[in-house]
Order: sequence, then structure tokens, then C-alpha cells
Amino acid sequence: MRKAYIDAIGMYVPPKVVTNKDLEGMMDTSDQWIQERSGIQERHHVDGEGTTDLALKATEEALEKAGMTAEDVDHIIFSTMANDYFFPGGGPIMTKRLGIPGTPAVDIRMACSGFLYGLSIAKAFIESGAYENILLITSEVQSVAMDFSTAGRDTAVLFGDGAAAVVLKATNEDRGLLSVITHSDGRYAEDLMLRTPSTLDNPFLTHELLDKGYGRVVMNGRNVFKHAIIKFPQVIREALEAAGVEKDKVKLVIPHQANLRITEAVAKRLDLEMYKVVYSNIHKYGNTTSASIPLAIYEAMTEGKIQRGDYIVVASFGAGFTWGASVIKW
Ligand code: UT7
Repeated sequence: MRKAYIDAIGMYVPPKVVTNKDLEGMMDTSDQWIQERSGIQERHHVDGEGTTDLALKATEEALEKAGMTAEDVDHIIFSTMANDYFFPGGGPIMTKRLGIPGTPAVDIRMACSGFLYGLSIAKAFIESGAYENILLITSEVQSVAMDFSTAGRDTAVLFGDGAAAVVLKATNEDRGLLSVITHSDGRYAEDLMLRTPSTLDNPFLTHELLDKGYGRVVMNGRNVFKHAIIKFPQVIREALEAAGVEKDKVKLVIPHQANLRITEAVAKRLDLEMYKVVYSNIHKYGNTTSASIPLAIYEAMTEGKIQRGDYIVVASFGAGFTWGASVIKW
């Protein structure tokens, strides 16, 4: 049966590194608090680069590794929470930046689950025979929407900027995306959100709205945490069942990198050995929203932790709420 598989992957993080010590100089926080509560040591922030700047660098690497040129891309799926412009989205802009005008492109804003939703669209596109080569780009610039005063410390210390791009291709071999499960629940939309600009206001952008702090990301961290540690294991089990793969066969679980404590709690609930079966690189990048899973896949591959034929599970939970998981035979 025709399947979609990940053929190549590229990544890019902006060069500017912001350590926990750097943050101590901006707000009332400490390296100890951040490491104990999240596992994060440093993250990368843009210094003038925009979302499609990061995306382009990650894409160039992915295309080169796939042995493709941009002209070989049949469809772009572009995932971000913060685009170059309010509209149009980054997808069409990437056709300009890659020099492939006319190529179809779709934008998705599924927060930390953007990569999972991107995989589900790519899987459907490829399995239906509609397209052969899909470019799934995740690129996130969150640092510009954070409040780096003490008022925003519970959120600002967690997020980082970065991008990753994957090339998905069609195959008839025994490999690829075996299952992709996605969910959403808007009852919790306000638990993690960026309110302004909003059509609830007319005009949708005023100094008053910005003065209220509506132009910054706000989060009810405890509630996000509480739901995350329940939904991650649930959806991973669902994806394993849909793929017909036993948990013991899984070589590596790569969860969205939101918080090391969430990852550890998920490993415990699934009875998985943390640091053997569950991958984490959050200490270096913080939470890069939809880019975090492909960034982690990239690094796990570089470290030789993923080989052809391995069963890999990726899973996410984040704003929306949205969550999902996929079982991939590499
Ligand atoms: O991708 C999905 C998106 N997000 C997440 O998955 C995040 C989920 N939530 C979390 O990771 C955690 O809830 C946080 C890391 C955000 C917070 O950890 P927590 O253990 O839930 O802390 P808390 O919110 O219960 O706050 C404990 C204390 C509070 O002080 P008081 O009220 O006890 O005096 C906070 O004001 O820590 C304080 N605090 C900080 N202190 C130093 C909050 N942020 C900071 C900070 N530095 N950066």
C-alpha cells in the first residue's frame, strides 16, 4: 500500500543564544527555578530574522539532503504561530523565497501540534495519490511576542525560536507513517493564547489593547501541565493501537519539547524508561512550539538514535488545546 515517509529533514535556529542567566537580568527569575521547573538551560532568539528567514534555512538543508530542488516540491504545508505578516501566511511567501511561484501551499496554526497536523495532511495527500513530494515546514518566532518583565516570567522563560523542515515522499515499501492521530478541544482556548489582533475588537489593533498586554502570549501553565500529562499518554496509546504496533517494539518516543517534567511524567505513565526510550533536547532550545518535534528528530538522527526500520513515536500537546501522535516506521 502506498505510504508517506520522511525522506529528509533540515533545521535552523537563530545564532543568538539566551541563557537562563541572561533572563535573570531582565526579570525576577533564576537559573535554578527555570531548570528545576522545566529542564531548560538556554534557548535561541531571533535578532531581526523573521519566520520565513528561519524556514528558508531549514528548508534548504532538507531539500539538499533529499537530493531535490525546490521545483520538485508538489505542495507546501507551513506551520507557525507567528508569521511574517498577519496575512498572507508563510506558505505562499515560501513559494516566493524558494523561487517556485504557483506551487500550492497551505498554512496551519495548530500551535505545538502543528507538526502532527502537518503529518496528517501530508499522509492524506500522499496516500490518496494527489502528490508525491510534500514539504512540511515548521518555523516559530515566539520571542517577539513574550513579556520579558517579571509579569510574563512564567511564559517568557519557556519559549524559544527555531525552524525545521521535512520532505515527505511516497513509497510502496514497508515503512513510513503508520498512523497519525489528532485531536482538539477549544474549551481551553484561553489557557494559552495571544489575544490581539482580534476580530472581537473593532478596530482590531489599538494602543489600548496593547497596553492591556493583549499583544503578548499568556498561559495558565498549571492547567496546560495538568491536561498535557493525561493527553500525551492517551494519544500515544491510540496511535500505537491504530498502527498495530506493541509499545515494546518502539525504539524512541519523541514528545513535543514543552517541559522536561511533562516528558518525565509521560514516560512514567507509559512505563517507559526515560533517557533510553524518550528523547529530550529541551535544555538547548526551550519550547519551539511546532518546530520542537522535527528539531528533536533531527538531533536524535544526528546522534545515531534512529535507524532505518525503527518504530518511532512522536506526540504533541499544546494551545487550543490540540494534541496528537504518530507511529512512524523509519
Ligand atoms: O507547549 C505547551 C505549552 N506549555 C506548556 O506545556 C507549559 C505547561 N506548564 C508548565 O510547564 C508549568 O506549569 C510552568 C513551568 C509554566 C510553571 O511551573 P509550576 O511548577 O506549575 O509553577 P507555578 O505556576 O505553580 O508557579 C510556582 C511559583 C509561583 O510563585 P508563588 O505563587 O508560589 O509565589 C510563580 O509566580 O513560581 C513562580 N514563577 C516563577 N518564579 C521564578 C513562575 N514563573 C517563574 C519564573 N521564575 N520564571
